[in-house]
Parts: sequence; structure tokens; C-alpha cells
Amino acid sequence: MQTRKGTVENVVQIGEVTFLIKVEIPEIAREIAPGQFCNIKVSETNFPLLRRPFSISNVKGNSIEFMIDVIGEGTKILATKKPGDALDILGPLGRGFDTSGDYKTAILVAGGIGLAPFPFLINSFPEDKNVKLFYGARSKKHIIDYNYKNKFICTDDGSAGFHGNVVDYLNSSMDELKGDSIKFFACGPTPMLAALKRFCQANSFDCEVSTESAMACGFGICQGCPIETTEQGYYKLICKDGPVFNISEIEL
Ligand SMILES: Cc1cc2nc3c(=O)[nH]c(=O)nc-3n(C[C@H](O)[C@H](O)[C@H](O)COP(=O)(O)OP(=O)(O)OC[C@H]3O[C@@H](n4cnc5c(N)ncnc54)[C@H](O)[C@@H]3O)c2cc1C
Ligand code: FES
Repeated sequence: MQTRKGTVENVVQIGEVTFLIKVEIPEIAREIAPGQFCNIKVSETNFPLLRRPFSISNVKGNSIEFMIDVIGEGTKILATKKPGDALDILGPLGRGFDTSGDYKTAILVAGGIGLAPFPFLINSFPEDKNVKLFYGARSKKHIIDYNYKNKFICTDDGSAGFHGNVVDYLNSSMDELKGDSIKFFACGPTPMLAALKRFCQANSFDCEVSTESAMACGFGICQGCPIETTEQGYYKLICKDGPVFNISEIEL
């Protein structure tokens, strides 16, 4: 973990409220693994005071990309960055996805901005894995522009792809999934992760999920990001023990 000044290369709008921010920062690009995150100081002033956590969306040579939804003051500032601007970044943080194991097919389940860590993860799978992405959005206009050949879209209102959420789609695809050796990787809103947990447990699938909470320090000091584990009365920290957990480890 280190704090470095990166240089913004470009900021591209790829969705209604979604921006892809590319930052040259060799020291962190060299070290980071899929599913890990960085804590970004979004402005040179002290407003907002706290850093904001973002997954690494991709690594390209000496640069990293963040896929960011604008939801409040911090993300609004990030979306207005210009090429050449400096960005103070703390990372790599947390524990990422584990792509090892003898499964044949990796199914990635993304909800909304939960798509963010998957471009990097997709590029990191060993060549012998078959990788599919199931991506759910509220409607066609909420779909983030990410081009991947093995992608299946679901929308809540049926305006694009399958009409329903991603877990409905998985349930309807059970005939195709049966008999395949699969591991799931997911990132998205907690209700989606909870439904996926029920689906995976009912069908005995292994699954890792990337979780979220508000964060302050990002590395285990402030105790501000607890998550309840399946071991009664025992909590872990999302920033240090996660954000990626095996679905069997945590309550959702
Ligand atoms: C490990 C981790 C990885 C993340 N990766 C990404 C990513 O790749 N792309 C991305 O767009 N976002 C990601 N987030 C969420 C991101 O950190 C928040 O959206 C961001 O901090 C909001 O900052 P803001 O100043 O714009 O909003 P604020 O002004 O701080 O908040 C605006 C509103 O959003 C709510 N809010 C703030 N943070 C969260 C959150 N984590 N979950 C739900 N509601 C929240 C606040 O309660 C408030 O109502 C990640 C969060 C974590 C913990
Ligand atoms: S954010 Fe401080 S302990 Fe997790």
C-alpha cells in the first residue's frame, strides 16, 4: 500500500452517469490485483475531507482505469477532471478475487456500477477458463457501454435483453448451467448479492462477491466498515479482509 500522485490521462462518459477515468500511476498499476481498490483524494482542497474508495476497473500498462458513477460531491468532482490533472491515490487496498481452482466456467454477475471491477478480472483469468458476463441494469438507458463478446444483458423493465433481474435469468438458464463446473464472481447491490447467495447455495455453486460500505481510512484502522460473518457474533472489515469474500463467509 502506498500513496502516489497519478496523472489523469482522460475522462470518458460511458453511461448516463458513468465515467471512465484513466490515470497514469505506474507504481500502483504494477502491483494491483483484480477486485482490489484504491482510496482517492478527489480534490486538492480539504473538501470533501475523506478519500473515496473505487475498484480498479482495468490496468493498461502504466495506467489504471476507474469506472465511476456520479452520485454525490466527490464523484461529481472526479468526473470533471481534465487530462494532466494530478490525482492523489492510496492503494492497492483490500483482498481481491481468487481466479485459481479447477472450475471450467467463470460466470461474472454484475448489477449496475457493479460492472466496474470486471474488465480487469476478465483479462486476468487463465486461458483455459470459459468466461461469461451476466450484466443487469434498470433499463436500456442505464446500460454502461462495455464491449465484451460473451455478455448477456438483463433489464428490470425489459427494454433490453432478458426481462428481469440477473438472478431470474440464472434461474431460467439452469438447464444450460447444469453439469458444468462453474464458479461465480459477483459485484452489485446487496439485494442482488443476497439473491445470488440463495441461488448459489440452493445449487451448490462456489461464489465470491465484492462488497461495499461507506469507508474512511480504507486499510483497517478506523473500524468503520464492518460486515457480519456467518460465524455468530463475529465481524470482518470490508476494507482489509475484503472487499471480496466467499459468499459462504458473510451474511447478506
Ligand atoms: C471497496 C469499494 C469499491 C467501490 N468501487 C466503486 C467503483 O468502482 N465505482 C463507483 O462508482 N463506486 C464505487 N464505490 C462506491 C463509491 O465509493 C461511492 O459511490 C463514492 O464514495 C460516493 O462519493 P460521493 O462523494 O460522490 O458521494 P457522497 O456525497 O459521499 O454520498 C452521496 C450518497 O451516496 C451514498 N453512498 C456513499 N457511498 C456509498 C456506497 N459505498 N454505497 C452506497 N451508497 C453510498 C451516501 O450515503 C449518500 O447518500 C465503491 C465503494 C467501495 C467501498
Ligand atoms: S474503512 Fe477504516 S477500517 Fe475499514
